[in-house]
Amino acid sequence: MVKLSVKDLSVRGKRVFMRVDFNVPMEERDGQMVINDDTRIRETLPTLELLIERGAKIILAAHLGRPKGKREPSMSLRPVAIKLADMLGRPVAFADDCIGEKVEKTAGALKDGDVLILENVRYYNEEEANEPIFAEKLAKVAELYVNDAFGAAHRAHASTEGVARIVAKRGGQCAAGLLMERELKFLGDELENPSRPFVVILGGAKVSDKIKVIDRLLEKADTILIGGAMAYTFKLAHGVKVGKSLVEPDHKQTALDAEAKAKKLGVNFQLPTDTVVATPVDTGKLNKKGKPVYDLTNVRTVKGDIPDDAEGFSIGEETAKRYAEIIRGAKTILWNGPMGMFEDARFAGATNSVAQAVADATQKNGAKSIIGGGDSVKAIHMAKLGDKVTFMSTGGGASLEFLEGKELPGVAALRDK
Ligand code: 3PG
Ligand code: MG
Repeated sequence: MVKLSVKDLSVRGKRVFMRVDFNVPMEERDGQMVINDDTRIRETLPTLELLIERGAKIILAAHLGRPKGKREPSMSLRPVAIKLADMLGRPVAFADDCIGEKVEKTAGALKDGDVLILENVRYYNEEEANEPIFAEKLAKVAELYVNDAFGAAHRAHASTEGVARIVAKRGGQCAAGLLMERELKFLGDELENPSRPFVVILGGAKVSDKIKVIDRLLEKADTILIGGAMAYTFKLAHGVKVGKSLVEPDHKQTALDAEAKAKKLGVNFQLPTDTVVATPVDTGKLNKKGKPVYDLTNVRTVKGDIPDDAEGFSIGEETAKRYAEIIRGAKTILWNGPMGMFEDARFAGATNSVAQAVADATQKNGAKSIIGGGDSVKAIHMAKLGDKVTFMSTGGGASLEFLEGKELPGVAALRDK
């Protein structure tokens, strides 16, 4: 269903309550919270610039981290407001709360084109509970509602869902922002009717996390390439030894069923034939979370059985080469989940090869490449290929749920065109 677009609204002089996903990674440096990756902020600039140009009074609502109803200072959105002002090249007002008289007064004083950002909505438990009275309080300042927070659209929270329902009930319009529209286009429409061959690359730790996506994409893809730790459950299901690798023995049948479905539908379903493994050695130390720290020694590539003392950390070079060749011939590519533990250079080779092949297909074969959020986006950035792919999702959990075919509550609450 096509949703009403922010472009369709007449916003001049109106207070637009806009939900954004400014849940950006931060780090404390010299007692200050510093933003490590501002992608999610940057990606909302087109919507903000459009609204500013059209003379809206913009009130931004967002969450940061999981403060669980407490005013956790390290999760304040103040540094985000400063960053946003810098990126927009104009002042951004900050309210140190998201509801209440002070917020209403500040919002009431906004002039056309002004931007105000509210403090973390998750400082209240009522946000995640989608508590109606809290949603009413948030909605007090809203005449129109825009959702550009694709990354949080899988949450039925007060600011992502409740406020939209209230604004709509009052006869106010609720529309998708430009980022939201792009996300729905690339993760939705483009994969519904893909140019072929359509190659899906799926990695990550667990089969159970990805099985719904596999199941749905089996209906659409020509080829599915499996990597990451979830490949070990497939191995186990085929009676191959997996050593100390991460596996889900309860999901052996899930894996076999996926393969059987692929066969029935004529999907080329590929599994790794070699694995980069290491032997973990207990250092006797504990990490910050109290978990034992292991040294990963004797890194090598094996075929078939993984030795008893070893643990798998990536698909091997031979598999990466085979996958890369298939990817280079694709016209549509969806990539979700890395091929191994790419954060460690010893296990990054295959993920980098796959990233390079995705970039090559896009640049040389005219393929549309869609990176389905989270770790695969990190991997593309690490390979410095961010500008060589067609689209990178800003969603993590939201992308996964959307790819599973679920209706996201934050999207459902917007008006159909
Ligand atoms: C995310 O980063 O995944 C979104 O901002 C949603 O955050 P959440 O997982 O804490 O709900
Ligand atoms: Mg999440």
